[in-house]
Formats: sequence, C-alpha cells, structure tokens
Amino acid sequence: MTVPTDRAYAEQLDATDPLASFRGRFEIPDDSLVYLDGNSLGRLPAATPGRIAQVVREQWGDRLIRAWGEGWMDLPLEVGDRLGSALLGARPGETLVSDTVTVNAFKALHAAMDLRPGRSTIVAHRGEFPTDRYVASEVARQRGGSVRWIGPLDPGTTQDDPVTAGEVAAALHDDVAVVLLSVVDYRSAAIADTAGITRATHDAGALVVWDCSHAAGSVPLDLPGLGADLAIGCSYKYLNGGPGAPAWIWASTEHHEALRNAIPGWMGHADVFAMGPEYSPAPGVRRFMTGTPSAVALTAVDCGVELLAEAGMPAVRAKGVALTSYAVDLTDAWLVERGVSLASPRDPARRGAHVTLRHPDAEALVQALTDHGVIPDFRRPDGIRVGLAPLTTRFTDVFDGLAALRALLDALAGPEPDRSS
Ligand SMILES: Cc1ncc(COP(=O)(O)O)c(C=O)c1O
Repeated sequence: MTVPTDRAYAEQLDATDPLASFRGRFEIPDDSLVYLDGNSLGRLPAATPGRIAQVVREQWGDRLIRAWGEGWMDLPLEVGDRLGSALLGARPGETLVSDTVTVNAFKALHAAMDLRPGRSTIVAHRGEFPTDRYVASEVARQRGGSVRWIGPLDPGTTQDDPVTAGEVAAALHDDVAVVLLSVVDYRSAAIADTAGITRATHDAGALVVWDCSHAAGSVPLDLPGLGADLAIGCSYKYLNGGPGAPAWIWASTEHHEALRNAIPGWMGHADVFAMGPEYSPAPGVRRFMTGTPSAVALTAVDCGVELLAEAGMPAVRAKGVALTSYAVDLTDAWLVERGVSLASPRDPARRGAHVTLRHPDAEALVQALTDHGVIPDFRRPDGIRVGLAPLTTRFTDVFDGLAALRALLDALAGPEPDRSS
C-alpha cells in the first residue's frame, strides 16, 4: 500500500492521534522546531520546573536536613517502583533509580558474576553501545576472565536482528557467567529476541543483563515475565527525566538475597546511620545504592514517568509503531531514489521508536537540517537517526522533517541537467 504523501494526510493523522494532547503537557517554546532526537534527550515536561522548584524551596529550603527522613531517603525506590510498574512490568521493590547506566552496568555485571562463581566469561555484542563494551571488558579483566564478542560490528548489517538467539547460544559455553545485550539496538532500533536469548542463556546456566536504554518508554517490557535476571536503563530519553537524569537498575526478586554490590556504599547499607565497621547490605534492590541520591533529579524523573504511566505503554507503543511506519513509508516514497537507505527493520514489530537512515553525506545533511530547525541525530559513519518519541512527536513533524531532508538532497544533487540541446 502506498501512503499519501501530502501534508494533509499527516495533519489528519495528528487530528486522530489519541495521544496528541500529551504534547501540551511539555514545555515547547518553539512549536515550529521539528525535534527528532527525543531518543537522545527527551523534552521537558511542563510540570517539572514547578515540581523541582517545590522540592528546592519547600523541602531543601524549609525542611533542610529533616527532608531526608520525610521522604528523600526512599525516593530512589519509590520512583523506581513507579517507573518499574509503568514501564518494566516490575514487581514492587525490584527497581532502583540511581547512578548512570554505565555504573549500573558495572554493578549488574559484577553481581551476575558473583552469582555464577567459577565462570568468568561475559558474552556481549561487538557493536553494542560503547559504554557497555568498555564496562564489560573491564569487569571481565577484574574477574580474570574475558569477553566473548558476538554479532557484526557494522550497523548496516543489523537491519533485522542485532544478534539471533542461535548466535548467542553458540557462544554459551560453560565458562559464561553472563550475557549483556540491548533490548533495542541504539543504531538500527532492531528489537532483540529477548525471549529466545533469555531462554538460551538460562539453558546454558548463565544470567542475562538487558540494557533497556532505548526500550524503556518506547516498547512495553515485562522483565519478570521474560524471566530476566538484571536490567539497566536510562531516564533522559523516552522518560523525559532531563539531562544527566539518574538511571535505573532492576533485579529479579528471586536473586535479591544473593546480590552483591561491587560499589558498596553507606546508602545501600541495611542500617544507613549505623556507621558500623562492616558493610551489611540492605534487603532487596536497595543494596544497589552507593552514595547520596539527588532528590531534585529524582523528582524530574518522577514527572516524566508520570506522563508515560498516564498514557499507558500499549498506547505509547501503538503511536511509536505508527510514527516509525510513516517515516519508513515517506523514506520509500521520497528518499530511496535520492540515495538514502533504511537501516532499521521493515517489520514494525521488530523496531523500536526510532528509524535510522543511511546516506554518504549524513553528517553534512544533519548539520544542514539542524540549521533549518529540524533536529535528528548523526551517527558515524553515515547514519541519520530519526527519533520519534511518541508523547511529543507529531506526524507533521515526520512529514516536515523528511520533506526538509528531501529538499536538501535535491539541492545537493543540483539542477536537473538540461537535455533539450
Ligand atoms: C544503550 C545505551 N547504554 C548506555 C548508555 C549510556 O548511559 P550513561 O551515560 O547513563 O552511562 C546509553 C546512552 O545513550 C545507551 O544508549
């Protein structure tokens, strides 16, 4: 089926979008800006500045140190529970908002290796987000082991599956303690076969850590239903928690009593103010806390999570599928003949909420688009990542953004040669 390529069709899609009103719940000072990078930094929820001002003035300003006992201490778990139940299918007490994804990857991998003594190999994807690869290498080194790299390096070959369950299974010898993979590939948006990979990993006696950074808030997750062991993710993308917002770590209840924190700190202690000589971990996922959490930053995460919870992940996912499908249709209609290729899965069921396009001049094109008020994301060497955060992106944004790209490609190609003479 060919999609109508006129702007009126995009306007009609916006008019019938059940989530359209959510855009009004965000600060959007320039409505003409076509923001296609909500998968790097999500927009600012309108409620956030006021809620932060309240925490700063009424809690920090007025309550001072008393505010720790009046709620701040439990915020990482309370916001974690709200995030976990809305986005991860988590049970109460399984999700903690803290640190960064990098630090949580370090903690999750060490904890998984502690649960599998005698095994010192980590399986990870060669083309995984860099921080995960660096942490995997370092944790393996600290444990006297190594990383078994799987999957292709080139994002161009990851259109459908970053890695299959069969490829993971082939790497799972009895030395493997843990597999670290992303649910949604940061380059292609391909969704991993989480069920098949989790099953294959468990069949081999290993554990799995899922990085959900590009999945949380774009794809409904059910980590307990999946049988996952540990998971990590950020909250500055689809969760709209703000620049440098604290990340989250999830651990299945079944592992709680045996989990060790590789960066044990006083905030993860069973009795924070005991100030005793020995470290004794708090029950549950709280033991993954290390240092003092930011009440201000946690408040911002809470505001973003609240909007996703209100919208509901099935509706968020449905809009993500509709937006990316529309982007793929317009790419086929306009851009392929102008030298652009699609580097994301064609099957919407296999795709997160962004679409990656490839063009040899991607870097210059993204710069030119940005200069024209269209903001996608450039990924080396030739990727144009079009992020379509469902709560804030309009179908007319997809239309206007890709129409601008089409116009730039035409300008780049120059005028049609005059064949009349
Ligand atoms: C898949 C993935 N993992 C990890 C990170 C890095 O997270 P952080 O900077 O919070 O450590 C990102 C950042 O975009 C990411 O996309």
